[in-house]
Amino acid sequence: MRKIKKRITIEAIEITDYAAQGKAIARHEGKVIFTEGAIPGDIVDLVLTKNKKDYAEARVLKLLEPSKDRQNPFCKHFGVCGGCKWQMLPYNKQLQFKQQEAEQNLLRIGKITNAIMLPIVGADEQRFYRNKLEFTFSNKRYLTNDEIGNTEIISEQNSLGYHAPRVFDKTINIFECFLMDDVNNKLRNTIREIAEQNNFSFYDIRLHTGWLRNLIIRYTTTGELMVNLCINYEDIENTKIVLDKLLEKVPEITTLLFTINPKWNDTIYDLTPQVYFGKGFVKEKLENFEFIISPKSFFQTNTKQAEKLYSITRDFAQLTGSEIVYDLYCGTGSIGIFVSPMAKKIIGVELIEDAIEDAKKNAANNKIEHAQFFAGDVIKICNNEFFETHGRPDVVITDPPRAGMHDKLVTKLLEIAAPVIVYVSCNTATMARDILLLSEKYTVEKTQPVDMFPQTHHIECVARMVLKNN
Ligand SMILES: C[S@@+](CC[C@H](N)C(=O)[O-])C[C@H]1O[C@@H](n2cnc3c(N)ncnc32)[C@H](O)[C@@H]1O
Repeated sequence: MRKIKKRITIEAIEITDYAAQGKAIARHEGKVIFTEGAIPGDIVDLVLTKNKKDYAEARVLKLLEPSKDRQNPFCKHFGVCGGCKWQMLPYNKQLQFKQQEAEQNLLRIGKITNAIMLPIVGADEQRFYRNKLEFTFSNKRYLTNDEIGNTEIISEQNSLGYHAPRVFDKTINIFECFLMDDVNNKLRNTIREIAEQNNFSFYDIRLHTGWLRNLIIRYTTTGELMVNLCINYEDIENTKIVLDKLLEKVPEITTLLFTINPKWNDTIYDLTPQVYFGKGFVKEKLENFEFIISPKSFFQTNTKQAEKLYSITRDFAQLTGSEIVYDLYCGTGSIGIFVSPMAKKIIGVELIEDAIEDAKKNAANNKIEHAQFFAGDVIKICNNEFFETHGRPDVVITDPPRAGMHDKLVTKLLEIAAPVIVYVSCNTATMARDILLLSEKYTVEKTQPVDMFPQTHHIECVARMVLKNN
């Protein structure tokens, strides 16, 4: 028999603290309640979304008294869109909570002692900072609570925007997004208009029907704009209509691609984007280095902060010019190339072949002859033979995805025992987990968070680790 769950609400409770991952804490009858959508100082009505023996999770039903720290969010989609959940927090508070989370993860999970925890490096630009955005077409529009009561508005409408949090089959129709230059709004709203005028169908994620699927935009500080339109199936005639119209209406586009994605998932890594117009990539600049970015390559999404992140990484590596440096999870080779003037040799390893092709071109274009890049899984590539061939590392720079390093790589790094590891991370919890594993042989000397994602709770962090008794 199906169990009927009782809805539990708690009225007029005060939010007392900040918790990890953008949540805040309330305490009720001895239980900690991790709450979404609130900040310390708020008095709220809550509804529990999870209720365990020693903790609960909740979301705000009603904000009764706002915290004195609250500010007015600047985006009309705030509260519905999951993109910039911290717009109600002044920037100095955002930085304070990020510093706190990074330190607590490093202390509690990483069990680091005696490390210097440098203060977070904030961003000068807290809006329009992203160079990449991805939007999803859906034949079901997400309705807000206010709209649900209005019988004239139906959800069976096309929309183009972001997924609502925890709603995989509907998107919010986004008209204005402050994460990238205004050109993103022009592009997205124009393509929606073209689609509507031509009756092009939008994707239905449950049924796997509909033509238009995703819109991926990259806009670099060099003024180049790459647009990749992902469609469910080939339709030469309509592809030409939509792409020609887009080029006419958005002359800022420097390269235009389309990708046929007949799969059930949205990832394009196993697909071939086809160039319709332009050179098929964009160029980005960090200090005096130029980087080619192809549609499938990873590149740091906040260019200005990436410069700061990389210069901290370079400082933490303390290179003298005589070191063999391994750049693991190297993407387009950007960190390795950035530090290369201070190194004897750079060896980069990255899973995505296109990114490695970019890395090789990037090294050549920047006239760097002492860097080599290899495509493949780090745990397969980084074996004894590889280290023997290319030389034992003096410094390993590792910049894994959110999941952190594979434990086999951690084991290999312990075996190789490079004198210095510089760990760059976009997830301080997994970084701290790996640091604990590495603590068998390494001590953390210093750490420094960098804010790559203002208005969100996400934190980037760099740590310098040195071999014990070295
Ligand atoms: C956080 S990004 C860092 C990229 C680069 N260091 C930068 O700053 O632009 C992580 C990179 O790891 C790559 N990656 C993920 N899993 C991998 C694996 N198992 N082996 C090698 N590279 C991997 C991703 O494709 C991505 O380019």
